[in-house]
Amino acid sequence: MTQPLRIALAGLGTVGGGVIRLIEANGALIARRAGRPIEIVAVCARDRTKDRGVDLSRYQWEDDMTLLAGRDDVDVVVELVGGADGSALALARRTLAAGKGLVTANKAMIAHHGLELAEAAERGQAPLQFEAAVAGGIPIIKGLREGASANRIARVYGILNGTCNYILSTMEATGRDFADVLKEAQELGYAEADPTFDIEGIDAAHKLAILAAIAFGGRIDFGALEIAGITRIRAADIAQAAELGYVIRLIGLAECEAEGGGLFQRVQPCLVPLTHPLAAVDGPTNAVVVEGNFSGRLLFQGAGAGDGPTASAVVADLVDIARGQSAAPFSVPVNDLETLQPADAGRRRARAYLRFTVTDRPGVLAEITAAMRDAGVSIESLIQQGRPEEGGEVLVAMVTHEGPESGVSRALELLEGSPSITEPPLVMPLLG
Ligand code: NAP
Ligand code: HSE
Repeated sequence: MTQPLRIALAGLGTVGGGVIRLIEANGALIARRAGRPIEIVAVCARDRTKDRGVDLSRYQWEDDMTLLAGRDDVDVVVELVGGADGSALALARRTLAAGKGLVTANKAMIAHHGLELAEAAERGQAPLQFEAAVAGGIPIIKGLREGASANRIARVYGILNGTCNYILSTMEATGRDFADVLKEAQELGYAEADPTFDIEGIDAAHKLAILAAIAFGGRIDFGALEIAGITRIRAADIAQAAELGYVIRLIGLAECEAEGGGLFQRVQPCLVPLTHPLAAVDGPTNAVVVEGNFSGRLLFQGAGAGDGPTASAVVADLVDIARGQSAAPFSVPVNDLETLQPADAGRRRARAYLRFTVTDRPGVLAEITAAMRDAGVSIESLIQQGRPEEGGEVLVAMVTHEGPESGVSRALELLEGSPSITEPPLVMPLLG
C-alpha cells in the first residue's frame, strides 16, 4: 500500500478523543476509500495523565503543541484545541508556514483569521480544511463549495448552534429552566469551553461568517454581523410562540442583495412556523438551508455537535487530503474574494414578535400602540399575559404585520425611557 497520511493531533478533548476512536474503529475502511491509511503519529493536550478512554501509548506525546508543526514525520496537523487566537493560531500559522496541511474544527479561528490562514495555505501550497467548524457532522462546506458550486446563492440560513437548539427545544418540550438545560448541554460535550459563545450567538455567528464567505465569494467581515443570543427568551415567549403556531429557534441568516447590493448577516432568535422544516429540528441537531438559483432549496440536516459527528467531519477532511483533493478553502483564491458592503437592515421587510415587560397600570397599552402607530407599524395581534396584583409586572406580546424593520426600530426609539417599560423589549422576526 502507498505511504500513509501521517497526522498529529493537537487537543484530545471531546472532538480529539472522537477522532482517535473513529480512526481506530474505521481505519481499514478509511484506508480503502482514501487509497492509503491515515496514521496518528503524535498527540498533544494539556494534561498527559488524564484518562481519555483511549490508548495513547502508541502515539508520541508532545508537551508543546506548536512543536507538532515542525515534526518531519507529520504531513498534516489537526488542531482541535479551540480559541480564535493564542496557541491554536500559533500552531496553525506554523503548520502552514512549514508547508504542512492543516485540518481544524475551530470556527472562531477561521472566522477571525481564516483569510490570513488561507493565504498562507496558498503560499505554501498546503491544504487547509475546516468542515467540522460549521454544523458539526453535516458536510455543509463541501455541500456549498462543491455540490452547489454551479449556483448563484440567494441566501443561506439555518440552525447553527447545537447547544442553543438543545436548550430551546428542551425548554419547549419539558418546561425546564434555561440554566439547568445549559448545564446538561455542557455535560454532553455540546457547548464551547466558554458557553457564553453559544448562548450569546457568537458561535453561530462564527459559522455564519464562514458560510457567507463561501456562499457569496466575499471576504469575511466578522464585525459586520449583527448578533443576538437566546439568554433573554423566557418560558412565556416559548408558550406564546406555540399558541401562535411557531417555535423559537436561533437562526443565522446571510443574504446577498441583487447585483451590487450589500450583504446581510445576522444571528438572532426567530419565530419559525410549525410548517417550516426548521421547526422540526430539535436537540443538538443543526440544519442549513441553501437557496441556489438552479438547485432550488437544499436542506442539510444532522448532528451539529458532539464527539462522533464532529470527528466524522474532521476525518472526512483528512480523507480528502489523503486523496490529494483540496479545494480553495473559501471556494476561490483569497485575492479573488470580493469586499461586500453590509446591507441596510432597516430596509428588510418582516413580520415581528415584540415582547414588552411593563408595569400593569392604566395607559400602558395605549402608550405602546401609539408608538407603533407613530412609527407606521401595523399590529396584527396583541396579547397581555397574566394580571398580577395592580401595579405589578406583566408581559405584553404582539405580532406586527409585514413592514420594514426600520419601523419597529423607530417605535422602540419612541418608547425609550418610558417609565412603564421595565426591561428592554425583545424583538424576534417571524421566519418565512
Ligand atoms: P475540549 O473538549 O475542551 O478539548 C480541548 C482540548 O484541547 C483538550 O484536550 C485540552 O487539553 C486541549 N488544550 C487546551 N489548551 C491546550 C494547550 N495550550 N496545549 C495543548 N492542548 C491544549 O474542546 P472540544 O469540544 O473538543 O473542541 C475543540 C475544537 O472543536 C474547538 O475549536 C471547538 O469549537 C470545535 N468544535 C467542537 C465541537 C463539539 O461538539 N464539541 C463541534 C464542532 C467544533 P486537556 O484535555 O489536557 O485539558
Ligand atoms: N458549541 C457548538 C454548538 C459545538 O453547540 O453547536 C459545535 O460547533
